[in-house]
Amino acid sequence: MNDMQSLYRIAVLAGDGIGPEVTAEAVKVLKAIEEINGPTFRFQSGLIGGCALDQTASPLPAETISICNNSNAVLLGAVGGPQWDSKRPELRPEQGLLQIRQRLGLYCNLRPAKVLDALVNMSALKPPRVKGTDLVIVRELMGGIYFGNPRGIFTKNGERYGVNTEIYREHEVERVAHRAFQLARLRRHKVTSVDKANVLESSRLWREVVTRIGQSYTDVELNHLYVDSCAMQLIDRPTSFDVILTNNMFGDILSDEAAMLTGSIGLLPSASLGEHSALYEPVHGSAPDIAGRNKANPLAAIASAALMLRYTLRMESAALAIEEAIERILKRGVRTADLPGKARPTSTTKMGDLIAETTQKILKSANSKKKR
Ligand code: IPM
Ligand code: MG
Repeated sequence: MNDMQSLYRIAVLAGDGIGPEVTAEAVKVLKAIEEINGPTFRFQSGLIGGCALDQTASPLPAETISICNNSNAVLLGAVGGPQWDSKRPELRPEQGLLQIRQRLGLYCNLRPAKVLDALVNMSALKPPRVKGTDLVIVRELMGGIYFGNPRGIFTKNGERYGVNTEIYREHEVERVAHRAFQLARLRRHKVTSVDKANVLESSRLWREVVTRIGQSYTDVELNHLYVDSCAMQLIDRPTSFDVILTNNMFGDILSDEAAMLTGSIGLLPSASLGEHSALYEPVHGSAPDIAGRNKANPLAAIASAALMLRYTLRMESAALAIEEAIERILKRGVRTADLPGKARPTSTTKMGDLIAETTQKILKSANSKKKR
């Protein structure tokens, strides 16, 4: 697509640890696309997480929210680190993440886990079992036990109680279910809804609502699994899953499990979508142990930029070009230090250069084919 006229504002919240390093590579790749295909990207940085706490005493300063509200999309790096671990819960970097989900209304979190043929040997499972795995977890991101009230640590009759509440309103289930079914239509037309309806009322409502919404997507096959069984079947038959729809807590856990099917959490992107905003970030954390050493794998951040191009900016061919570039470079045997199979690992910046160059090559050849 020639996108000469368009201007897109991208908020860049690099965060802590390796966040700034990997986000810089994602920006590098977007600038490479800008050179070839002509949209203009305006990047504006904002603080979030530990660095925001240090500079403003808030994990999500008001200025950051206004930068995000003035942008078409948000690219986020990672938050957290040991120096903030001892802080009170409301002063921890993770609060920045939880708050931004609420403030931008990001209720739908997509976490794809795809096992690339070039990397099938990296999986925690044997290759024949995982080869071809291509699933997306659709995680509800604004409700459930993460945010339900009452919550807190209370004292009653001299004993302390830790309390959290798993709660779902019907409309919260409806809106994320619609997203899952719509996504399935672009894929293999299968949704597996995951709950604990044999024990929890919130899950019983979840299952009822998902079933009702599913009736208006007759071309999509809907199955239900209990979360414990799903955890098992993800290992037993990973290739049979297409879209997995689940609540906030189960999605948190299952998405880490699904990451291990691919062998490296360093490769996995995510998208968090609301009605008017969208945030893109790697699934991995801030990896403070390797921060600042040009060692981190930038591919998850770069793949997150590809999701941004796809879902928010509707630049599918540019998104595909990035994804194709990642596959090509990995096939060539280039590896960052987190990936096995390389005596001399490639640095963060070098990996970014290679993906940027290859993406440009792919776009140029697509453009010249179009002209012919
Ligand atoms: C994730 C993370 C966060 C979550 C933490 C850091 C608050 O684990 O995005 O999966 O639990 O949602
Ligand atoms: Mg998690």
